[in-house]
Amino acid sequence: MDLQLKGKTAIVTGGGRGIGKGCVAALAEEGCNVVVADLSHDGETMAFLEELGRRTGAALVPVDGDVSREETADEIFRTALDRFGQVDILVNNAGRGAIRKPFHELTTEDWRSVQEITLNSQFFMSRAFVRLCRERDRAGAIVNVLSKSAFTTNSKDNTSYICAKSGAYGLTKGIANEMAPYKIRVNGVVPGYVQTERTYPDGEPRTERMRQLLPTGAFTTPIEIGRVVAFLCSDCAGQIIGAAIDCSGGTML
Ligand SMILES: NC(=O)c1ccc[n+]([C@@H]2O[C@H](COP(=O)([O-])OP(=O)(O)OC[C@H]3O[C@@H](n4cnc5c(N)ncnc54)[C@H](O)[C@@H]3O)[C@@H](O)[C@H]2O)c1
Repeated sequence: MDLQLKGKTAIVTGGGRGIGKGCVAALAEEGCNVVVADLSHDGETMAFLEELGRRTGAALVPVDGDVSREETADEIFRTALDRFGQVDILVNNAGRGAIRKPFHELTTEDWRSVQEITLNSQFFMSRAFVRLCRERDRAGAIVNVLSKSAFTTNSKDNTSYICAKSGAYGLTKGIANEMAPYKIRVNGVVPGYVQTERTYPDGEPRTERMRQLLPTGAFTTPIEIGRVVAFLCSDCAGQIIGAAIDCSGGTML
């Protein structure tokens, strides 16, 4: 299916690694130019972007910045507008893993850190995007990367993350409802167990144990999430508004 995204401009936060990289790849393969926002871009990420750009013809622009800081959103959007003149798509993917502690042992700093990186970043970036779309009277699409933790609470010592991702789902529905009249669509994707550089490295006994527990016998890959994200950003998903699309490979059943 041609998603007709050719020539669109996307911003992907946390695009230098893991699921974010899968989103950058899927959008570039559909013909989008992508601003790749991350804390930093190491040699491996730069090599990945170079190869992807060569293969797809997409312009891929790395921007360093901490998206949990309010001012970073303005910097990222300024870079995108200077380079491409417009922004059509925002993928809020950056997040930090859970700080796994029993609830009563969580410090205020633990709590703040998870909310700031995982939830506040989605607020700052989404607000900047919606302001831009409204100023220019343009349509747009936002996809927020959620987690099955927003919907099931069966993982222990995870409350700060559960709250951040539940908040991100609330943000998704709230903006979607307010902005539907202006053709700014907002949706979420819900990964379950995605194999990334950080989560389940091949060869570790823990990875193999987890693999055997998965309904499909396989982890989700970042590009599988990326392709759902690309679909949600396209007009093919024009009637999908405020949804949280389960991409968890059956782990929420
Ligand atoms: N991997 C999974 O199994 C899984 C499951 C459910 C949800 N998720 C969610 O998917 C998203 C990506 O997860 P991942 O597994 O790919 O993580 P990852 O750690 O592999 O990649 C996250 C990327 O975000 C960047 N990042 C982190 N904090 C940032 C900040 N403050 N500013 C800018 N960039 C920042 C990191 O540098 C990194 O490149 C997260 O929101 C995570 O909660 C992941």
